[in-house]
Amino acid sequence: MEKLLSIISREIGDAFEACGYERELGRVTVSNRPDLCEYQCNGAMAGAKKYHKAPFMIADEVAEKLQSSKVVKDVASVKPGFLNFNLDNEYLASYINQMKTSKKHGIELSAPEKIVIDYGGPNVAKPLHVGHLRSAIIGESVKRILRYAGNEVIGDAHLGDWGLQMGLIITELKERKPDLVYFDHEYTGEYPEEAPFTISELEEIYPTASKKSKEDEAYKEAAMQATFELQHGKRGYQALLKHILNVSVTDLKRNYANLNVSFELWKGESDAQPYIPDMVQKMKDDGFAYISDGALVVDVKEDTDTKEIPPCMILKSDGASLYNTTDLATMVWRMKDYNPDEIIYVVDKRQELYFTQVFRCARKTGIVKPETELKFLGFGTMNGKDGRPFKTRDGGVMRLEHLISGINEEMLAKIQENQKTKENLGISTEEAENTAKMVALAAIKFGDLSNQASKDYIFDIDRFTSFEGNTGPYILYTIVRIKSILNKYHGLGKDDSGAVIGAAHSKSEKDLMLELSKFNAVMESAFEETAPHKICSYIYDLANAFNSFYHGTKIMSEENETVQKSYIRLLELTKSVLETCIDVLGFSAPERM
Ligand code: ARG
Repeated sequence: MEKLLSIISREIGDAFEACGYERELGRVTVSNRPDLCEYQCNGAMAGAKKYHKAPFMIADEVAEKLQSSKVVKDVASVKPGFLNFNLDNEYLASYINQMKTSKKHGIELSAPEKIVIDYGGPNVAKPLHVGHLRSAIIGESVKRILRYAGNEVIGDAHLGDWGLQMGLIITELKERKPDLVYFDHEYTGEYPEEAPFTISELEEIYPTASKKSKEDEAYKEAAMQATFELQHGKRGYQALLKHILNVSVTDLKRNYANLNVSFELWKGESDAQPYIPDMVQKMKDDGFAYISDGALVVDVKEDTDTKEIPPCMILKSDGASLYNTTDLATMVWRMKDYNPDEIIYVVDKRQELYFTQVFRCARKTGIVKPETELKFLGFGTMNGKDGRPFKTRDGGVMRLEHLISGINEEMLAKIQENQKTKENLGISTEEAENTAKMVALAAIKFGDLSNQASKDYIFDIDRFTSFEGNTGPYILYTIVRIKSILNKYHGLGKDDSGAVIGAAHSKSEKDLMLELSKFNAVMESAFEETAPHKICSYIYDLANAFNSFYHGTKIMSEENETVQKSYIRLLELTKSVLETCIDVLGFSAPERM
């Protein structure tokens, strides 16, 4: 569907043209004085110079021409030369009805692309912390937004499974259970299927080992040696890596599922290893990689740089691969297996320089074809109320699980409290717990996504969990309210099928329709700019518009059947738009709360 603003601009442009002026002057914006009018056009001001005429004279002529318009009404020429006007109610209703019946409510889709999105980035054997939360929330939403726009999108968790943490775990395990077959050099048989540890052991082993390595130089040496041996194919350690991965990924999947986040691919840094030797060889053969201070590097600076971009390091002087090497080799298999049109990285914005280097290196060395777009979607830090990075009460790193269970509990208490004060809905404890989880998730995700991703923000649990204001729970509350009215209506055996939405009966109803009409424009700009926050601010406005309509309108007691049906249809559309939006944001609404 054509966007409403462009239809109106065309209508006004036609009038300018009919009066002998260029049609481009007819560009319309939503009024910044909603108390005066819904839309405005300042074209007469711009045309004054060109046509050597006072702006109000142009505006008067155009306003006169528009008196018979079927799209706009109440057209007023206001000195010194503004055009103020409203949308015709009938026209708006027909637009809304068309939106109701159109596929995806009238969104225009561009040619579908294949997109790989690298997000989540959890590190194996280390618990998820709040830093991983943003990548998961933003990445999942961007994935869903791009999918809604018709693209084929593949999410890859890109596990951090290749670093020193692996060597640390192996070293600690060897200390505790030296007799395990994995440590027997002579052993040539098959290794056991069952892992020699559980997830809770693993979660304890890693921090212990990490602490020891900081205090004990020899221990650290051993861990580095183990990492080296693992990376150079030592069988027993490779088998242990598989166990660590299995146990850890099972746990990660559970954690991500609680966040309503899922990945198509669970590839890790280790999956890139097989591609490293050929990739490095080619970089050397093509003359891109050279030795500098013992390390193998590729220059990535460009003449137009305003700050220094250091070379991209490919191998350390001891020949070991780095984070860079893995990211580049990951691009090798992503291109080979998927040949995507775009790869998006949802990573902490502090890694921006690093990704600039990696992207340039990938282009220069031909790992990525020129048409494939590489996008870095860097996000800011989630801070506590004190404006400092989010910590536990005793100053430690906050584990994601603890953060979430804390909010779930708070939400449950709120919902049970609501139960006491409001009408008793007879909600069971089980339902209350599930609802609490849904509302908590909406609180966390909306709280995060309503900020522009690149900005730091304050994680304010009290504000995020409030049922009022610009919050996830407020949006859910609005949806639940609509569901409840629709249930009551249908519960009376009434049926609105085939009914149409009539011209607005009140200002609040028209305002709701005007908000609804923006849906396609908002969604399209959210796709184009990969900007979930635009959807958040839209649904807040939409929820407000709905609630004003609801408070000012007797829906269930409306006696005129046609009018009531029209209201019900409008409610259905509002619900559908809100649900579509929260779905792409990555959360959903309960039946009641
Ligand atoms: N595992 C990394 C971390 O925890 C994030 C990975 C980001 N993605 C990437 N392709 N480098 O910081």
